[in-house]
Amino acid sequence: MTIEIRNPSADNWRAAMLTAMAVFADEPRDDDFDRFTKTLVRERFYAAYDGDAPVGTAADFPFTLTVPGGELAAGGVTWVAVLPTHRRQGILTELMRRELADLHEREEPLAVLWASEAAIYGRFGYGLAAPHFEMEADRSRFALRDDPGPRGKVRMLPLEDAVEPCMRVYDRVRPTIPGFIARTRVWWEQFRLSDPEQWRRGASPKYAAIVELDGEPAAYAIYRIKQEWRQGFSHSEVRLVEALAANSTAERDLWRFVFGIDLIARVEGRLDPASPLFLMVVDARSLNLRASEGLWLRIVDIEGALRGRTYGGDGEIVLDVRDEFCPWNAGRWRVGGEIERTDADADLELDVADLASVYLGAFTFSRLAAADRVREVKEGALARADDLFRTPRPPYCPEDF
Ligand SMILES: CC(C)(COP(=O)(O)OP(=O)(O)OC[C@H]1O[C@@H](n2cnc3c(N)ncnc32)[C@H](O)[C@@H]1OP(=O)(O)O)[C@@H](O)C(=O)NCCC(=O)NCCS
Repeated sequence: MTIEIRNPSADNWRAAMLTAMAVFADEPRDDDFDRFTKTLVRERFYAAYDGDAPVGTAADFPFTLTVPGGELAAGGVTWVAVLPTHRRQGILTELMRRELADLHEREEPLAVLWASEAAIYGRFGYGLAAPHFEMEADRSRFALRDDPGPRGKVRMLPLEDAVEPCMRVYDRVRPTIPGFIARTRVWWEQFRLSDPEQWRRGASPKYAAIVELDGEPAAYAIYRIKQEWRQGFSHSEVRLVEALAANSTAERDLWRFVFGIDLIARVEGRLDPASPLFLMVVDARSLNLRASEGLWLRIVDIEGALRGRTYGGDGEIVLDVRDEFCPWNAGRWRVGGEIERTDADADLELDVADLASVYLGAFTFSRLAAADRVREVKEGALARADDLFRTPRPPYCPEDF
């Protein structure tokens, strides 16, 4: 079987998308095609062809990702699918190879993704980069500690009117949290505040609530309600799509609102690992938090990636990085002061996927070493490297794509 990877022509794009939709068992709908043709670029959409038939796809959104102390271009990998007739014959591997080579050629130093299954992407050099919590909170036990009472005002807005205030809050927070992705107005309209019926999965339409402090938007909750009644009582749940606050006063008002909605038994949703909520409530256990692996990161161009973030202290470290899938990265790199290739002896040895786990601040070298994923070649190197890469807070990515 000969498989060719290419960017589908304008005429063939829809057929390639149909292939991926069949893999995910999504019903093809015009509004979905429309949404993706508005947000994807054809040069970043790859299809694997068996003759004229598309049998696999991969694509990447042109994202800007917040990294410690700055932001960098990152391919947002999506639409990864291979038809059941063609699986386990190396097609995904070839799609990944081509996509990463193109990102490298365009000098985009990073690629990020959310994995349908956690076992798929490590082999391509992706590492766990921004774990989060999944919350399943018991609303009946919710109470804020030392509650000074509401400070602001909460307004429910039609989704189209929520775009502007949500953007204001998000854009204030985004530079402060590694893992956040810059969102255009089109992205807000097409994804975060879009509400096609096929995304509801039995729950209500999306609602948007904006917390205002001194007349300024300072937090928002976008959510749905999944109704359930049993024997005369409501067991309904709030399903958070996204909840974000720009400061601690707004954060408290935000959660007071979310947990104050009547007829709700549970509040479910994704939580920032550094969320103050855990420390704001009387009964942290009742939040029922479960750690989940979150965003994956691939360092496509190690030099650009290392130069694009900031470091603590004035130490220096030499990393010996293995990278079989993108061999241009492999070798020894000096970090701290100048960032450059070097012939100097290595302080630490690690795989490029493990460097990705440190890069945004999710893990330390010491923690990876404790799992036998980093080797300390020179004594004391782990502590020096941890000082250098230390960040003020863990990363978080509030949206999958
Ligand atoms: C995941 C998927 C794209 C893999 O495509 P594929 O063409 O079969 O993958 P490849 O043949 O290139 O596999 C490469 C390697 O990854 C492994 N692999 C592939 N899919 C895997 C999975 N789901 N879990 C564990 N390992 C997997 C293969 O066994 C192979 O390992 P090997 O090199 O040791 O032999 C395909 O199974 C699929 O479309 N799944 C459903 C949709 C999906 O989950 N997409 C990912 C969205 S994030």
